[in-house]
Amino acid sequence: MFSTKKAGDISSAFSFGVKDELPAHYKDLKNQLRPSNIQEAWDRLIDVYEKESQEIQKAGSNAVPQVEYKDIEANNGSFPDHIVKAIRKTGCIVVRGVFDREEALGYKQQVKDYISKHPGIKGYPADDPQVWELYWTKGQVAARSHPNFVAVSNAINKIWHASDETAIDLSTNVAYCDRLRIRQPGDTSFALGEHVDGGSVERWEDPEYRKCYQHILNGEWERYDPFDATHRVDAVMDMYNCSGTLTFGRVHQKFAKNGRSFQGWVSLSDVKSPNGGTLKVCPLIKETTSYIMMRPLLSDLKDSSDMGGSRPGSQQLINEEQHPHIIKTMVTVPEVHPGDCVFWSADTVHAVEKECRNPTDSSVFYIPVAPLCAINSKYLRRQRDCFDGGYPVHSTPADFPGNHCELEFDDRAKPEDLTNLGRLGMGYTRFQETANMTEGQKQAINIANSHLFE
Ligand SMILES: [Fe+2]
Repeated sequence: MFSTKKAGDISSAFSFGVKDELPAHYKDLKNQLRPSNIQEAWDRLIDVYEKESQEIQKAGSNAVPQVEYKDIEANNGSFPDHIVKAIRKTGCIVVRGVFDREEALGYKQQVKDYISKHPGIKGYPADDPQVWELYWTKGQVAARSHPNFVAVSNAINKIWHASDETAIDLSTNVAYCDRLRIRQPGDTSFALGEHVDGGSVERWEDPEYRKCYQHILNGEWERYDPFDATHRVDAVMDMYNCSGTLTFGRVHQKFAKNGRSFQGWVSLSDVKSPNGGTLKVCPLIKETTSYIMMRPLLSDLKDSSDMGGSRPGSQQLINEEQHPHIIKTMVTVPEVHPGDCVFWSADTVHAVEKECRNPTDSSVFYIPVAPLCAINSKYLRRQRDCFDGGYPVHSTPADFPGNHCELEFDDRAKPEDLTNLGRLGMGYTRFQETANMTEGQKQAINIANSHLFE
């Protein structure tokens, strides 16, 4: 029924260690984009970067802001102002107690039982999976539409803004069905180097995506706003079919994916920090994005096609040689407990610790945040069809490799398991306009309803 994407795993989206020279047109592109004041802008950036980096290194994990879920609830579903400010500066947040501890541990047990009941489920690495190619366990489906998780998703989407005409509704979040990690103590196989999701060369190459970074490319990085979604909705973030996910925008017609405002996960374990085998982030968003965008335009790279860690068909990689300040500024997220969530913005540099030295497994459900916009409603239709038919979400075209593990499992979650909130998030219920919506919000809702119900 569905054509399927090539089988693979979570490692498919990266090109660590690849050194081949890029096509010559990247050199021409850089010549066109390079502002005349690049060196002055860079010098100002490095001045600020070094100061901020020292503070972050001193603070360690505490440089990542933290908030209790109940403080969002008490603030009418919004982050307190000082937390909004902290997220805008760092690009990341730990939200504690989104799920009850027992609830989160229950989800993990359910998944472990499912895995033991069904030998042969694929994952990465193949011989001893730490990341499982599972999308439809009952625990995952329940967690995605849990009222507290939906409330946090709505709060975090409000960190972003867009022009009134932009076809996005940041007040409505939709479910996004990703995988899960059960990383065992001692594991060294599931380590990911520093990278940014949402494509790589496309940030310079696609004219619309480039507009998001126009201030930086004008040599005025101080004016760059990392949370302006206006040009992200129509940006082409995947020109070369990278197996990975996007921030908001589009892909070339033959590929179709989902867009996220924040990446995220819910912890299912007590995970120590550092060395719990967990996430590392660079908690400084505006300056880090400016660094990445300017780096290939500097004098040492300007006469080559080198794009500073960007390669077609891979996520943006960050390396010691070209991005030493960023590497130095990486910190492990704070200790987390079952039911805590971590979110990091679409452009945040992140990595996974090399070794898991946690006393227990270090486990998460990956659940990102995805506001309503054309790419997400189109994806939602396909995701809903896959869920209806019992097909994995990764049927082509989609974000994930085509491993049809769950097709025959009668104990996977089904549409009838969804709550009303779950039905809305999975696209089974029409989205409604409300008073005071902008033209862009209304447009996003109309587009979604036509993708889902026509
Ligand atoms: Fe990533």
